[in-house]
Parts: sequence; structure tokens; C-alpha cells
Amino acid sequence: KTKMKRLETLETDNSILQEAGRILREGGLVAFPTETVYGLGADALNEKAAEKIYAAKGRPSDNPLIVHIAEKEALDRIAKEISAEATKVIEKYWPGPLTLIFEKTDAVPEGTTGGLDTVAVRMPSHALARALIREGGGYVAAPSANTSGRPSPTSAEHVREDLWGKVDLIIDGGETEIGIESTILDVSVTPPVILRPGAITKEMLEEAVGRVEMDETLFSGDSKEPPKAPGMKYRHYAPKAEMTVIDGEIQDVIEEINRRAEEDLRQGKRVGIIATEESCLQYRKGSVKSIGLRTEEATVANGLYRILREFDAEGTDCIYSEAFGSEGIGNAIMNRLLKAAGHHIIKL
Ligand code: TXA
Ligand code: MG
Repeated sequence: KTKMKRLETLETDNSILQEAGRILREGGLVAFPTETVYGLGADALNEKAAEKIYAAKGRPSDNPLIVHIAEKEALDRIAKEISAEATKVIEKYWPGPLTLIFEKTDAVPEGTTGGLDTVAVRMPSHALARALIREGGGYVAAPSANTSGRPSPTSAEHVREDLWGKVDLIIDGGETEIGIESTILDVSVTPPVILRPGAITKEMLEEAVGRVEMDETLFSGDSKEPPKAPGMKYRHYAPKAEMTVIDGEIQDVIEEINRRAEEDLRQGKRVGIIATEESCLQYRKGSVKSIGLRTEEATVANGLYRILREFDAEGTDCIYSEAFGSEGIGNAIMNRLLKAAGHHIIKL
């Protein structure tokens, strides 16, 4: 029953948007592109519709959804209190890849927030996404449009792999620009806390509001505290292969990965290597893929989920990845890599 339709620019064909909007208003599911990753949308204020998302993704029902809006004014109906810090980051970074956590109003059903009394809200910068949200009634709940446990989709093809037959419509708007999910900032507390790092970095947020904290459970594998964003506890972004991140001086890392890859190949395993434009020619064996330019980490973020899906498709048994920086977007990259690796990291 799923349809897939290509919609590159807003001018081309508004009938697709109108159809998508109608599906959403009638309680159906529409997958659509945003600047971060593809989202799986449903009417956020319709509990029955939001619940369909959990079934389609195979997602645990205690994992709340992000409500997407098309204009800032739409926030008032769903957020109880908008702090001074929230106002500042909204002014600076909305629309964009930033999700904010507020105390929710009664307009938001608990089926959307996984029973929490807070709500996550994001206003995407992707023009087509915003047009769709408007057509769909103004409040669209959308998790990443992948099957729970698989890497987030950065193209409509990825969505098709996971959700064909489970959603009403997939809008193909080409590859996503950023490639990893939005930064989540809890502005219901002071100082605000980053629950998930993303393209809007800690440094950028601090520029707008002063002190910002990071939920430290995100970077350790054996923390006793659960992460504050319920979804971050699951081993998301998981490739089928066993994955190891190797950290250290880059030449040592390359040597160590080459050594391990040869050993695994001798045992008959399929080996995948996540390298960069700068390093990829120095790997001798295995399936070597360049994730992007080390000197331009935004390109690395952009290649990450696509590469993990490619290794899945190749039936890779073990993946070795170089490590990346801990500042700026490097922070978000390492968070996703470590999750994919089940926090398996070797420091040389
Ligand atoms: O870039 C993105 O944010 C994409 C696109 C489609 O907008 N969406 C996305 O949604 O990544 P999802 O559902 O895959 O991730 C949402 C995360 C989960 O970890 C969830 O637990 C957390 O946000 N979250 C949602 N509501 C929350 C709340 N009220 N308090 C704390 N965490 C919340
Ligand atoms: Mg997700």
C-alpha cells in the first residue's frame, strides 16, 4: 500500500504535498526529508495516529516523539513555559537542526510523549518539510524514518528498505544535507542540558545562552545513570557487524586497523574499514570506505549512516573505524560511532 513520490523542489507539483497533508490529517503516516535525516510523520495531536508510528518502526512505546512545527508561533499551543534561554536559542537557531524540550500542555497527548509531561519540539529548516507540516495541520510527530535499531535514513531509498508496506507515502526529496539527527537541548532546566549532540554544537549554544551542560552518560558505556533522552539508551544506529573504534595518533591507528583487519581476514571474516579521504589509500585489505574529509567534519557526519547501511548490505562481520574529534560536530560523530560500536573503543 506504500507509495513513493519524488518531490525535489516546492514549485514542481503541489498535488503531492496536498495528498501528503491529507494523509496526515486523516491519521496516516508520511515519511519525508528534513535537513537532518528522513522523518516518519503523523499528526502529533492525534494519539491514534502517533501510536501508528511505534508499530511501523517497531519502536518501544516509552520512547517519546519529536513534534515538528512550521512556525515559531505554533510553539505556544504545546509548550507550557518558554524560558529566557529557550527564547534566545530559538531566535538564533530556529528553523534548524535543534530540538528543544519543554513542559507540555494538555494539547499534546501522552501517546506522543511516551507518557512524559515534557514535549520535544523542532522547527526544521527544510522548506519542503515545513510546507508538509503546514499542510498536515501544523503539528507533525516524527522520529527518524528507520526501523528501530537500524541507522537513521539519509535518503528515500533507506526509508524504502525499512518501511515499505508500513507507511502510506514516502516523499523522496533527495539526500539529506546534514546526515545525523538534530541536537536535543533540554531548556526546561537551568542551565540547559544537551541530551543528544548534533550539528548545533555545544559551543554554538553557549554563544547564545552562556553555560550549557552535556548529559555525560552519552559518552560512557558503563554509566549507572540512564541517559535523559529515553531513546539514547537503546543501541540505536547499530550495524549488523561487530564494530570497534580505534583512537590515537592517526598513523598508529592506521597500522593497528591494518593489523587487525589482516588477522580477521585470515579467519575468514568480512572486514569493513571506515577511513577518510586523507587515509583511505593507506589501508591494504578489506572493504575500505571513505566517510568524508577529516579536515571538514561536517562531511564525515554526512557519510556516517550511509556507510553503516552499505556495510550491512555487504554482510560485513566486523567494522573498524578511525576516531574523530571531541569538539564541535566531532562530538556528535563520536556519540553516534560509539553507540554503533556498543561503546567498544580502543585507545592506543
Ligand atoms: O533530526 C531529528 O531530530 C529527526 C528528524 C526526523 O527531525 N528526528 C529524530 O527523532 O531523530 P527520533 O525519534 O529518532 O529521536 C528523538 C529523540 C529520542 O532519543 C527521544 O528519546 C528523545 O528525542 N525525546 C523525545 N521527546 C523527549 C522528551 N520529552 N524528553 C527527553 N527526550 C525526548
Ligand atoms: Mg531515531
